[in-house]
Order: sequence, then C-alpha cells, then structure tokens
Amino acid sequence: CKIQIYKFNVMMTNTTRLCETKPIVTVNGLFPGPTLFVKEGDTVLIKVVNQIQSNMTIHWHGIRQIRTGWSDGPAFITQCPIQPGQSYVYNFTITEQRGTLWWHAHIGWMRSTVHGAVVIVPKQGVPYPFPTPDKEIEIILGEWWKSDVEEMIENALKIGIGPDISDSYTINGLTGPVSSCSSPQEGFNWVVENGKKYMLRIVNAALNEELFFKIANHKLTIVEVDATYVKPFQTETIFITPGQTMNAILDADLGTGNYLMAASPFMEEVHVPIDNRTATATLQYSGTNPSEPIKLTDIPAQNDTSVATSFVDSLKSLNSQEYPARVPLNIDHSLLFTIGFGINPCANCVTGSELLANFNNISFIKPEISLLNAHFFNISGVFSDDFPGNPLNPYDYTGTSQPRNLRTMQGTRLYRLAYNSTVQLVLQDTGMISPENHPIHLHGFNFFVVGKGLGNYNPDNDPNNFNLVDPVERNTIGVPTGGWVAIRFRADNPGVWFMHCHLEVHTTWGLEMAFVVDNGKGPKESILPPPQDLPTC
Ligand code: C2O
Repeated sequence: CKIQIYKFNVMMTNTTRLCETKPIVTVNGLFPGPTLFVKEGDTVLIKVVNQIQSNMTIHWHGIRQIRTGWSDGPAFITQCPIQPGQSYVYNFTITEQRGTLWWHAHIGWMRSTVHGAVVIVPKQGVPYPFPTPDKEIEIILGEWWKSDVEEMIENALKIGIGPDISDSYTINGLTGPVSSCSSPQEGFNWVVENGKKYMLRIVNAALNEELFFKIANHKLTIVEVDATYVKPFQTETIFITPGQTMNAILDADLGTGNYLMAASPFMEEVHVPIDNRTATATLQYSGTNPSEPIKLTDIPAQNDTSVATSFVDSLKSLNSQEYPARVPLNIDHSLLFTIGFGINPCANCVTGSELLANFNNISFIKPEISLLNAHFFNISGVFSDDFPGNPLNPYDYTGTSQPRNLRTMQGTRLYRLAYNSTVQLVLQDTGMISPENHPIHLHGFNFFVVGKGLGNYNPDNDPNNFNLVDPVERNTIGVPTGGWVAIRFRADNPGVWFMHCHLEVHTTWGLEMAFVVDNGKGPKESILPPPQDLPTC
C-alpha cells in the first residue's frame, strides 16, 4: 500500500461548447477533471487549492471514509467550505473497495463542471473476478448549460420554480458534433483495436437526469456497480442515475468501422419538454477511415420504463466466496422515509410560493457551521437528532394526495444510529408533483437493495419477498416513481453522513437529511480528530 499524492488547483477556465465560450470552474484546467488512479488499501492525499472567487469543497463519492468524515466533503455537513485563496488536504484510505467511483464539488451546482473519475484497482496480485480486460477507459456522462449554472439556479429559486434544463448531455465533456460555428466541435472519439477486450468505467455525473447509454452493434457486460462486483450480465443499453458508476466489458470484435455511442435521458412522464440534445460520440476501430459513415443505433424513448426496469432488476451482488454479500439479517432500526414535495408560501420569491422537497415532510436546512464540527465538539443549537421530530404536518400517505401533504416543515434534523447497529430503510416515493425517480445517495456506507416495488410499501407482505442472499450493493439507488425501495446497511462508520437525492435540483429544494453514528464508546468507535488545516466557517 502506498501514499498517493494529488494536487487539485480549482480555477476558472474558458471553455467552448455548442459554439459558445464561457468561463467554467475546473480542476487543473480540465473538464471533466483529472482521474484519480489508486489501489485498494492506498492512502490518498489530495491538496485542493481554491483559486476561484467562491467557496468550494470536493466530495469523494462512494469512498467509505471509515472514521475520516472530515475528508468526505459536503459543504456544511462534514466541513466548512474552502474559501478563496485557501487550501485543504483531503486525506483518506481506500478500505475494501475496488472499482469505479468519482469525485465532484459538493456545494451549490459547482459539480456541473467540477467532477472526475476515481479508479480503484484491486490489491497487488488480486485478479478481477472476470476475464482481465486488455485496456480500460473512463466514460463520464454529464450535462452542459450555455448559461451560468449558479446564476440559473439562483434565479429559479427567486421565482420559486424549476431551473432550465441543460442544453446538451456530454460524453467525456463533449456534446457531439456541432458544425454551425466557426471552429466546429466534434464529439468524443474512442479508438479501439480489433480483438481486444475493454473495460468501460462509466460515471453519470449529470446534474438532473437519469441516462441511457448505448454503443451501436456492441453488447456490454456489466461486472461492477458503485465499486462492488455484480453477477455479470449482458445488455445493449445501460441505465444509470446521477451519482451511480458502473464497469462494463466490451469485446471489440467487429474488425472495422465507426460506431455511434449515445447518452440520452430517461423520464417516466414527460412533464417538461426535454429538448436537450442526446450526446453522441464515436467508437472507431483503428485503421478505419474517420470519414466512413457512422453505424447508428436507436436509443430507448425517454419514457421507456421497461428498459430501465429490466436493467435495474438484472443487478445482483456477485456474492462469491471472495466477495460475499454481507446483508444484515437482524435489524435494529427499521425506518420508513417518504419522499415528497411541498409548496410553501415564500416572502422573498416572485410568485409568493416556493417548491420544497422533503424526507418525511422535513425539508433540510443547511446549518451555518458543519454538522460534523457541531457533533464532534458538542456545539448545541446547530442540529437536533430527533428526525423527523414532530412535523406540523406529519405525512399522511394513503395513496392520494392530501392538501396538508403539500405543506412541508423545514429543519436541520438528524437521525441517530448506534455504532454498528443495523438499519433497514424503506424509501417511499409519494409520486406527487414530480413524476421522477429519485436517485438517493447515502454518504459513508454501501447498502444492500433488498426490495423494491410500485405503490405503497406493505410492511406485512413485502418483506417476505426481500432478497437477503445476493441483493445488489451500492451507494446510490433510484427510488421508482410512486414506488419504494428497501435498503439495509450496518452503521459501522462513526460520523455524520449525508443522505440526499442526487438530482441537484431536488437537493437544492431540501431533499436531504443526515445520520449521526455514534455511541460515545471510545476512539475505535468514533471519528478521528479533525485535521489542522480543516477550513473554518
Ligand atoms: Cu455524489 Cu452527496 O454526493
């Protein structure tokens, strides 16, 4: 095991997409940002230097951060932001994880351009549990706005409505061919050699859309999601929510030609006109004339639920002798959180009302100092640990919307878990207002997705159908529209851990909460002391 050292200079960089140039926040001038290449067991030190005019932080999405919550990164949850001109060294060890994860800014909407892949290779001498690929490549899916994203979301909040949808999706930072400008832009071009086996390390870094991804005439074998191995299965189309990552094997065996790669959105009901462009790229066999026509493929319709569902249902933990699925069987905390929206009166917004999103009718308010600081130093008045407490309007979920469900309370309420206790959490979407899946992401843990269904969760029957043998293990799960998922995890990581929807617009509206894991039983079961350079608020 080694110490890996990286330097991330956070800077403004002029970038041209869709025929227009604008300054964007980047790491080291790159969009997408640099990939971290590390090995399981390595300690990673990343010095982040803030050279821009605004506060920022970086989150290492999916890294367990055992006892190192100070390096997790969400602003005002585990740290105060890094202020302009300041720097902070994120310092963590990769424990029992290998695969693809990613990093992204975790403040405002900065992650739209500040993100990159994290590649974790297995320990020396430990093979992949599938035939070793000859080569690997990162495929990062994202979104591009012509306007300034921070301004856009601020304006949207002022008016009390949703922000504009993006102008295009991106594959490795590129939208695909645009020829209407003086310096025409091309899409990402991936050159492969015939006869070689490739591993694609796919990240959905988009802000607000679940995506389909497909390569013409080629099948993909999924071998890993969110840095956990799965039972390999073949598919034509990948379905991936914001926050999720995935490794897929591609056999480049068609000899020659140019083939289309495409990323396009999934949304169950078309409630807003989604007119942003599908991102396109090309897979090119080496030796092929680039001007040879590209072999095209159709991509699933925006509302093709069956493709999305059958992909999700195919995911199972590998659950081998080397990589057993350690699903908690006895449950200490059995929780049910509803996911909903409210429309609250609002003094400062133009329309007089604002949209709020919530778990259990509590819309999260970010504190002014970090929750982890408040927890570690016992600073009172920053949060309460009584989530959901006694909301004014407890959610009455009877399948039909009740007027009072549309009023939500706001607060900074956490749920306390004893160290090493086991949790079952049912996430129940109420399907109100927004006909979208919610990709819920939990920091600090992986969880097993033991069950899922449409309609209301039934505590008497549904547990009988839970998969406690080989459920997929991950850190981000799409809760189906008007349905539920049940997840299980062991609270074996002391600290304060954020949980939120990875659709940035829903996060902005407060679809967030946090767990505090602590039983006050000494150093092994509690967090390490804060590093000296931890930013202050
Ligand atoms: Cu990928 Cu809290 O985020």
